[in-house]
Amino acid sequence: MKGNRIIGTGMGVPSRIVTNDDLSKIVDTTDEWIVSRTGIRERRIAADNEATSDFSAWAAIEAMKMADVQPEEIDLIIVATLSPDRLLPSTACLVQGKIGAKNAFCFDLEAACSGFVYGLAVANGMMPDQGVRTALVIGAETLSRVLDWTDRNTCVLFADGGGAAILRHEGGDNGILSSYMKSDGSAPPPWLAVTPGVSDLSPLGDKVSKDFAITMEGKEVFKFGVRALPDAVKGALNNTDGLTLADVDWIIPHQANLRIIDAAAKALDIPREKFIVNLEKYGNTSAGTIPIALDEAHRDGRIKKGDIVALAGFGAGLTWGGMILRW
Ligand code: ACO
Repeated sequence: MKGNRIIGTGMGVPSRIVTNDDLSKIVDTTDEWIVSRTGIRERRIAADNEATSDFSAWAAIEAMKMADVQPEEIDLIIVATLSPDRLLPSTACLVQGKIGAKNAFCFDLEAACSGFVYGLAVANGMMPDQGVRTALVIGAETLSRVLDWTDRNTCVLFADGGGAAILRHEGGDNGILSSYMKSDGSAPPPWLAVTPGVSDLSPLGDKVSKDFAITMEGKEVFKFGVRALPDAVKGALNNTDGLTLADVDWIIPHQANLRIIDAAAKALDIPREKFIVNLEKYGNTSAGTIPIALDEAHRDGRIKKGDIVALAGFGAGLTWGGMILRW
């Protein structure tokens, strides 16, 4: 047991709400189609002057308040994102500047929708041996800036916002019990990619969008998600000292599609009520979905001290991963 525990959570989302009916005015879609295929009812979309570092900083400030941690106490900041403010500098350094965490070292991590789970695992590995006692791990995105708003296959799914967790080395039996991280780089890039590239400007098959935008083979990603979610939970459980599915109180899955979550619940034979789901309000914020759902469930008292919590992410790469925590 390493005794690295989440002592505070927070979330930061834009105030602008975009409903399915709003989207039906810009692409050929309906509220009924989006709700029945995905479960999403509305999402938050950034204002012109808002970026990933803003949602990250808002979430960080909430998490620090909850944890009663001062910015100077933070030793490490990781921002998991596929939509950084800029290629340089890292969004993590921008967040450091915004929150005044002057003693932290900072970097971004790109593992798409698995980014927050990967980020917690990386921070956990650095604690306390690399001099890290308090880490701030953030998953946040501004996906509205990498969407083709004429492509109804993608623009109805993705959204903006993020969440944060303060991880502290306390010793004891609570905190991160295990992690499990997987990648498969052999999947064809057009399944889920942003085009054009930065150093690679070659086209990705015939699915290239004309602008800087997410392209996706929805059906392939759907099938991958249905396999990856249960594997993430089971893989992380296998890495604990004997915990089983029956011990799990809550599963916080990546919030991509309600039908993927329903299928995972069935595959794992776990009651659907154990899955924390809020995608109807926020859509798919990629690295942001798990920390946003974690913060909501922690703040409203669903997750209680001693609960066994499983996080499970999956996304582009392909990447997927799980984590088991004793709260
Ligand atoms: N509104 C109305 N009709 C639509 C829309 C829309 N927004 N999008 C597609 N359609 C149409 C299609 O054109 C198609 O029409 P056709 O039959 O005339 O050709 C029809 O609806 C059915 O389309 P399908 O692709 O078969 O719909 P499906 O049931 O597969 O649902 C969806 C599509 C929601 C994208 C689904 O495949 C899915 O959820 N995939 C996984 C997506 C995902 O989770 N992505 C992110 C995961 S990883 C990450 O988060 C980065």
